[in-house]
Amino acid sequence: MSLLDSKNNALTAMSLKRKTLELLKKREQVILGGGEKAMQKQAALGKMNARERILALLDKDTFHEYDMFIEHDARDFGMDKKSMPGDGVVTGTGKIMGKPICIYAQDFTVAGGSLGLMHARKITKIMDHAMKMRVPIIGINDSGGARVQEGVNSLAGYGEIFYRNTMASGVIPQISVILGPCAGGAVYSPALTDFVFVVNNISKMFITGPEVIKTVLGEEISMEELGGAKVHSVITGNAHFYAESELESFAQIKKLISLIPWNNSRKALAFPPKNPNKEYKIENIVPSDPKEPYDVRDVIKSLVDDDSFLEVQELWAANIVVGFGRMNGDTVAFVANQPLVLAGVLDVDSSDKAGRFIRYCDAFNIPIVTLVDLPGYLPGVDQEHAGVIRHGAKILYAYSEATVPKISVILRKAYGGGYIAMNSRHLNADFVFAWPTAEIAVMGPEGAANIIFRKEIMEAADPVAMREEKIQEYKEKFANPYVAAAKGYVDSVIEPKETKKFIMHAIEVSSNKTEFRPAKKHGIPPF
Ligand code: HXC
Repeated sequence: MSLLDSKNNALTAMSLKRKTLELLKKREQVILGGGEKAMQKQAALGKMNARERILALLDKDTFHEYDMFIEHDARDFGMDKKSMPGDGVVTGTGKIMGKPICIYAQDFTVAGGSLGLMHARKITKIMDHAMKMRVPIIGINDSGGARVQEGVNSLAGYGEIFYRNTMASGVIPQISVILGPCAGGAVYSPALTDFVFVVNNISKMFITGPEVIKTVLGEEISMEELGGAKVHSVITGNAHFYAESELESFAQIKKLISLIPWNNSRKALAFPPKNPNKEYKIENIVPSDPKEPYDVRDVIKSLVDDDSFLEVQELWAANIVVGFGRMNGDTVAFVANQPLVLAGVLDVDSSDKAGRFIRYCDAFNIPIVTLVDLPGYLPGVDQEHAGVIRHGAKILYAYSEATVPKISVILRKAYGGGYIAMNSRHLNADFVFAWPTAEIAVMGPEGAANIIFRKEIMEAADPVAMREEKIQEYKEKFANPYVAAAKGYVDSVIEPKETKKFIMHAIEVSSNKTEFRPAKKHGIPPF
């Protein structure tokens, strides 16, 4: 090497070092977000900052950040003099449980995480990546909403996000985590995604905030009461997973990600059971008296591998239980009436909850196991006026439309419209099993006796004894699984201890299930 060459190399090395230092300094500035004070304010509220959240959620050393140096281009209201590192949102790719994902996290320390045009462009760019790569997209929301200074550009940004949420729906999993305010139109991106995670005291979701409500309606209400984590987990059903801390929420996300497929053309990864010989005591859980309640989650837990059951929307419409678990390593979805709450009836909210969940499972190729034990749809003026006809139809639509393997086990009661709605043979179930304790009838024996034997009961010398006799007569005739089995509506009447074997075999033989629906642009579900 000549003297000139080595001098040039030394200069190049120096220049590279200088430029690298410059890059590191620039990165440091961006990572400072809205500055130390804003970061301290965020921490004092018990909130992590955007990058801390991403690092806590993703597998170690897998996060790669993009578009760090994006600048906002707003000029009005003094914005031309305002620096906004990364424009208030951090985006990138990484892995969770070894699976690739795309992620964005709004940075509240930068202009309240408000959404301007370039902020939105960062989000839509990473969403487009997720769609191209067919991997899940996770959005961590912590924002004051549309950036007021940017006017219509902020609104445009939201619209472009909503459009992408809709295009990605049913193609890649979309997960929203609400870790701060999510106000105004900002709520509609999470509402369009598959799963919404909230954290007590931290998440706040509402269309119009307390200030507006006070001005327009003259009512005082706190943000927590208006749209806190409990409100959306228990009352509105907007949230699917509730946690007491950000870290607990991240653990829930990891468990969910491990159970669902990357995209709609894959199966979820299989995880062999840790304890393949787990004791299985299903027959001890369900009382044979059809009026005695029990927790159907114990039935599900007894069927799944290890502790793999993950309940979705646990706190809302608890009269139906929906969630994922693994059987022999593979992900299975469960939809089950919950006799512990309102005797497991179907009503407006439980129909919405189950209908949406069934559509998710169908979109993402997850077989559905339905556990049936219900007295029917909930009667009453409140339900009728709340639209139980329209809402109740959602579950019928969802089961009928679904082409994934669909297996039902009728444990006890299956009355009336409830029997049909809960994945009956008539909605094209693949396998219907019933326990010997199953009662499949138009209605419960008491109600049926009152209707069809009314005259005999009224005219009897002892109406009480006659009613009891007629109830027994009806029970013997119809309140059993054999009338349905005789018509082929039930495929097999099985012993409770055979349940797991029958379900697993049904899933195995359905693994290549192919079923077509009539060609159409799309159906018109009872939204
Ligand atoms: C611009 C905003 C902002 C916004 C907050 N900031 N929200 N800047 N546009 N939407 C800025 C604040 O000016 C402040 O800047 C910094 O973020 C922190 O905000 P604070 O108010 O100091 O924080 P805090 O007290 O914690 O209150 C948080 C908040 C409040 C409750 C979210 O900021 C708030 O009410 N913001 C407005 C919420 C809202 O109404 N959004 C709806 C917008 S309309 P400095 O410089 O002082 O630190 C909308 C319609 C979209 O979203 C429709 C799409 C379809």
